[in-house]
Amino acid sequence: MNKPIVVSGIRPTGYLHLGNYFGAVRNFIRMQDDFNCYFFIADIHSLTTHPTPQNLQAGVKQVLAEYLACGIDPEKSTIFIQSDIPEVTELYTLMNMNAYLGELERTTSFKDKARQQPDNVNAGLLTYPVLMATDILIHKAQFVPVGKDQEQNLEMARKFAGRFNRMYDCELFPIPRPFTFDGKDMIKIPGLDGSGKMGKSEGNAINLYEDPKSIRQKVMRAVSDAGPTEMNQKKSEPVQNLFTLLEIVSAPDVVSHFNNLYNNCEIRYGDLKKQLAEDIIAYTEPIRNRIDEYLNNDAYLAKVAKMGADKARESASKTLAEAKSLIGIKSLF
Ligand code: TRP
Repeated sequence: MNKPIVVSGIRPTGYLHLGNYFGAVRNFIRMQDDFNCYFFIADIHSLTTHPTPQNLQAGVKQVLAEYLACGIDPEKSTIFIQSDIPEVTELYTLMNMNAYLGELERTTSFKDKARQQPDNVNAGLLTYPVLMATDILIHKAQFVPVGKDQEQNLEMARKFAGRFNRMYDCELFPIPRPFTFDGKDMIKIPGLDGSGKMGKSEGNAINLYEDPKSIRQKVMRAVSDAGPTEMNQKKSEPVQNLFTLLEIVSAPDVVSHFNNLYNNCEIRYGDLKKQLAEDIIAYTEPIRNRIDEYLNNDAYLAKVAKMGADKARESASKTLAEAKSLIGIKSLF
């Protein structure tokens, strides 16, 4: 029985936060039984922002422990570190020949990054979508579970796949599609600063590995508003964001309790935040404990990474050999 192939990755640039968890990782876990999943740690992608060697290593280890702690099962899914698969960087070089400067310069993530780090607009940043496309295409993935922010990168992967197939008159690469359950958009987890989504670089995130004291502090400081003045008033964005988080971590009766208070203009945001903080703590506590266990078990982490690398290389080397042969790179000896 051939299960559809799924690829997704996360850059190891810090701790996983609630946005990563509810936006991505929780879906990975739900997919493990019905799909042939490749979940990896995109350490080469993270080099575009020049981490120190120590930070890079620590980041890779952290995400690996966090993947496992969240419930990604190395017996069901292939969990691996991108740099353990040299075939990826080889195919990336080949794919770069059919990626054009104009289209790469026009991607919003490139333009954003170029604005954020004007002193470090490196070539890796420009060709980031090519490497991401290679991650996906090298395993011939049909589906890619990613959040909305990755839509354009995935669109580029589709473009590069189609272009290669046309150029070499083949069907080497399936055209990968974004994956969502029931055709619904991936949920967007809001941050604590009143607007936009939760993100590492936005400084509005709560990490899975965050200690309870810090969770309480961050939630209590979250942006709200002056409070409703009319019954059943529409919620402002910052307040809606607090409710969205509550809906994710709290019991339904807790949510309706605070909704009723809001609608009757009796809400005290301090109470809502206290409840929200405690429910986030309760939800993440078992995950935090498991992260600690894995972080203290280097031998197990190494075993998981080795097992994943072996499986991922098997699949990657097949595709790479096919691509090279189609391109005309053949041994003369
Ligand atoms: N660009 C993705 C992000 O920043 C990470 C990533 C790299 C990825 N390669 C991928 C995601 C391949 C899905 C598939 O979140």
